[in-house]
Amino acid sequence: MNFDDPIDRRGTNSTKWDMMEPLYGVPADTGLSMWVADTDFQAPAPVLNKLREMTDHGVFGYTNLDATYKGAIQWWMQTRHNWTIEQDAIFTTTGLVNGVGLCLDTFTQPGDGVVLFTPVYHAFAKVIRASGREVVECQLTNTDGRYEMDFDAYDAMMTGSEKMVILCSPHNPGGRVWTREELQGVADFAKRHDLILLSDEIHHDLVYPGNTHFPMPNVDPSIIDRLLMLTAPSKTFNIAGLHTGQVIIPDPKLRARFAARMAALSVAPNSVGQAATAAAYSPEGAEWVDAQLAYLDANRQVFDAAIAKIPGLSSMKLESTYLAWVDFTDTGMERAEFTDRVEQTAQVAANHGTTFGTGGENFLRFNLGTQRARIEEACERLTAAFGDLQ
Ligand SMILES: Cc1ncc(COP(=O)(O)O)c(C=O)c1O
Repeated sequence: MNFDDPIDRRGTNSTKWDMMEPLYGVPADTGLSMWVADTDFQAPAPVLNKLREMTDHGVFGYTNLDATYKGAIQWWMQTRHNWTIEQDAIFTTTGLVNGVGLCLDTFTQPGDGVVLFTPVYHAFAKVIRASGREVVECQLTNTDGRYEMDFDAYDAMMTGSEKMVILCSPHNPGGRVWTREELQGVADFAKRHDLILLSDEIHHDLVYPGNTHFPMPNVDPSIIDRLLMLTAPSKTFNIAGLHTGQVIIPDPKLRARFAARMAALSVAPNSVGQAATAAAYSPEGAEWVDAQLAYLDANRQVFDAAIAKIPGLSSMKLESTYLAWVDFTDTGMERAEFTDRVEQTAQVAANHGTTFGTGGENFLRFNLGTQRARIEEACERLTAAFGDLQ
């Protein structure tokens, strides 16, 4: 549980580190990778022990893990989120981007509009477009460095062709933990416009002290007949490569439609991802998550303090996630210039804000899920790269 332990992921086929140079032009040997959302931490001991046990046994045949796996998910959601779920409500997908694609496929038709509150996690728009649906961007309002929703404006934009709204709760990027009132606003919006509400709550375990995450079914039980919930252990425990996520559907009618589509496409979970999930969602896993959160909290404070000292830069106050959303608007620089300074001068790879949709143009997203020494190094490099603004 020592998150400071140096870990070098270069040369391990890591997307984050080994794709940094081809994608961002940031040299692999000297660069700092702060883009794609996984962390540089080892998974917790119960997960590693379970995977060792499996490899020691050495047989990877068909398995029947469902009851253990689903029981662990039920336990986690109940104890960590006060959310009661039935085992039959749980479907397993190869991650949540896959889950979004399957939900679009089941509950919408080509040409339908799908509402996103932008800027938002870029893969939503990618999957919506790839499946022949239309992205309907409802832009978040940036009020003093904090995203808010403007339902009057969104109501005025609706044309009747929209069939689904995708909410990212907590929000990536921007790090908002939506309040109960804001979530009720989203539920009311979905009802007013007769939309299926897909609530992606993958970041729900990474909520900093002083904020409370509310699972959507607890906010408004009357939304359940149009609600699809997405959760996964991948961000919480850094096991995204195991490609295991959950679509949780409380309503039996929606569940039956989804089950039919899953059966037709023959989507079935793999034993390693299921076993890792069951091991992670445990008391020992919970202890590790609490320690990780404290570490990430300190990382965000170190990063925010450094960014706050660079004139023209501001980092949104993260209420959740390890993804810092930095606004470069007040530098007065063109996007190409501030991006070039970050990538070429500081040699730091961060996600480009443009990929998150309207409103993200002047931002870069920095992944803080790494050893503190790297955060400090990134702060020094960014301070120097914008040193002429002092
Ligand atoms: C909101 C959100 N949903 C889904 C994902 C990706 O999920 P998966 O790796 O399970 O496909 C991410 C990754 O950053 C995310 O931020």
